Amino acid sequence: MSETQVRKILVTGGAGFIGANFIYYMLEKHPDVRLVNLDALTYAGNLENLKEIEGHPNYRFVRGRIQDRGLLEKIIREEEIEAVVNFAAESHVDRSIVGPEVFVETNVLGTLALLDEALKAGVRRFLQVSTDEVYGSLGAEGSFTESTSLAPNSPYSASKAGADFLARAYHRTHGFPALITRSSNNYGPYQFPEKLIPLMILNALQDKELPVYGDGMNVRDWIHVEDHCSALAAVLFRGKPGEVYNIGAGCEKTNLEIVHSILDILDKPRSLIRFVQDRPGHDRRYAIDSSNIRCHPGWSPSWSFEKGIVHTVEWYLAHRPWWERIINGDYRKYYETMYAGRFSG
Ligand code: NAD
Ligand code: TYD
Repeated sequence: MSETQVRKILVTGGAGFIGANFIYYMLEKHPDVRLVNLDALTYAGNLENLKEIEGHPNYRFVRGRIQDRGLLEKIIREEEIEAVVNFAAESHVDRSIVGPEVFVETNVLGTLALLDEALKAGVRRFLQVSTDEVYGSLGAEGSFTESTSLAPNSPYSASKAGADFLARAYHRTHGFPALITRSSNNYGPYQFPEKLIPLMILNALQDKELPVYGDGMNVRDWIHVEDHCSALAAVLFRGKPGEVYNIGAGCEKTNLEIVHSILDILDKPRSLIRFVQDRPGHDRRYAIDSSNIRCHPGWSPSWSFEKGIVHTVEWYLAHRPWWERIINGDYRKYYETMYAGRFSG
């Protein structure tokens, strides 16, 4: 299968969870690429995530926002950027409910600025990293395909859908080589402890209550972050411009099943579980049909959930200073204001 030769790549949002994992993956598996990481270092961006490649000859970090068109123009020109992989985003549904503006600013307007500057500079690939949440919620049966209509239910997923539509429009209008991926829920090392899996691991480790929304029977389709990264590389090098690729590992679990497996691995009691007020507009079920990417460009996941969740718990156990700095810093204030009310629900 033919590969598009892109070697100088702008990665945005590379100091976050998936972006950092992607940078490690690419430097290890594709030693001929040069990566420039543009990240605003919001609460979710953390240079500690990239400590192992500080000073790497094929890697450069630039602090800045994807809305900064002047900076984008400069980086793309100076670095002779051939491809863009856009991870930069506000990514947490609960935050989007209490403060949606920044989601539109970054996820919609930021993506627009990036598309514009990449188009002007003649960039050869633009990978928009999106989510299955743009499809909305499923009933008990079926799964999302790439032709499922978009029906986002949270301000987060609405802003991601807006970005997807812009990427699609730039392809249709300008022939711009945009590709869109829509992945299911990721887990693994470096995930910020506001998301279900790391939050539950850290609470259980500290013998704190585990806040499960509603009845705990909402279903998510889980993929290990490294499998997401290998899928992104496959699409970046071998995907077809204008196409959408769903990414999933075929691993549906209820939230309660996830919480039980974490408690079992840590040998903690189920009495730590606390059912709390449900998330407004909480999507009931996600499930991804990823047959498109599996056939073309050709990809399959390597991690089983059983192995991945044990490995993830072990990673948090081995990286206590990483997460202690987060939970004792700004995140503590966030956690107290955001979740305090929920425990009374
Ligand atoms: P994250 O919140 O961990 O990281 C986001 C990164 O973007 C941070 O480093 C942050 O500093 C940076 N950022 C935020 N605003 C920026 C701006 N204006 N300019 C430059 N950088 C900015 O998110 P994540 O979980 O790593 O998700 C990465 C991408 O993947 C997002 O686009 C998200 O929508 C998508 N995605 C995530 C999942 C998941 O399960 N986490 C699943 C599917 C898709
Ligand atoms: P989350 O990790 O926020 O991802 P998303 O909402 O993007 O799927 O949440 C995953 C699931 O876990 C979702 O159904 C909401 C639920 N959840 C809880 O029950 N308690 C929590 O404290 C969090 C953060 C999430």
